[in-house]
Amino acid sequence: MITTWLSREFGIEIPVLGAPMGGRAGGALAGAVSAAGGLGLLGAARYNTPEWIEAEADVARSIGGKFGVGLMTWSLPENELMLDTAIAVKPTMITLSFGDPAAYVGRIHDAGIPVVSQINTLEDLRIVEAAGVDAVIAQGGEAGGHTGHIGTLPLLQEILEATSLPVLAAGGIGTGRGLAAVLAAGAEGVMIGTALLASPETVGPDYARDRVVEAGSADTVYTSVFDRARSQPWPQRWGGRAIANDFTAAWDGVDVDEDTLAKAYDPSDPNNGVVYAGEAVGLVHGTHPAGDVVRRIGADAERHLSAVRLS
Ligand SMILES: Cc1cc2nc3c(=O)[nH]c(=O)nc-3n(C[C@H](O)[C@H](O)[C@H](O)COP(=O)(O)O)c2cc1C
Repeated sequence: MITTWLSREFGIEIPVLGAPMGGRAGGALAGAVSAAGGLGLLGAARYNTPEWIEAEADVARSIGGKFGVGLMTWSLPENELMLDTAIAVKPTMITLSFGDPAAYVGRIHDAGIPVVSQINTLEDLRIVEAAGVDAVIAQGGEAGGHTGHIGTLPLLQEILEATSLPVLAAGGIGTGRGLAAVLAAGAEGVMIGTALLASPETVGPDYARDRVVEAGSADTVYTSVFDRARSQPWPQRWGGRAIANDFTAAWDGVDVDEDTLAKAYDPSDPNNGVVYAGEAVGLVHGTHPAGDVVRRIGADAERHLSAVRLS
């Protein structure tokens, strides 16, 4: 068994968090990750509701016992009820990513819940440290969904050198080799998203799972074009990594207004609708239950770590 700060602090067997993926990670996925020995998080997107959090928390708890809730910090000022509800469902962890969490950390800590933030730069580290978070996740630009520009390994090394907080890694980790590598570097665990995207417990259109299985590591694109087409007011610094398709071929990088994009966007069309996924998509070869994915990553990492020879 691999023991780290993450596994000790949260009583889990495998130091793997199932990412809070908006539109893909509900209670079934989070519960399956937790039941396998990791900790799965509900992905509460801006377009979800407090009722969604309550219902999915019940599902996750009934399957896996523990679960976390992941919120997008920049969207909280317009709907703080999302945070109140996330606290009320008593999760094991809340993640606040993409923005300064200072206004919210105290409220979460008062309820006895640890707060973890994904960060994309050294400047982000200083902001979330000042806000009082309990740990950080260095999220590299190869991650699926919204992310920054610095690669996972350079960012992880930089953050590990710069803080005494526990540090996890996210972005591009899809096998036991990846988990072993970042643990050896000093990370306390990982957050995985893309590796879970073909699993039957994910929500979203069937074509999203098919695309994930078919796509290779070179098939993703970092773009804001889907946010603009769907009127999602993400701050400009965070684009999203998605599988390239007909829509990105036609519109990514084109100087065009949002109405035109909205009219051209058709989520019912498998060649047009967004499938957020990271470069680790090339490591996903089939539709395996999320629990199998997590257990396999944990067991393989153990094997790789014990095979390391120092002399
Ligand atoms: C489909 C998808 C949706 C995501 N939605 C969110 C989200 O709502 N909130 C969040 O904090 N992170 C979100 N992420 C980012 C993940 O938390 C995580 O950083 C990422 O999946 C890790 O990289 P990987 O995809 O290479 O494993 C999303 C990722 C994906 C793939």
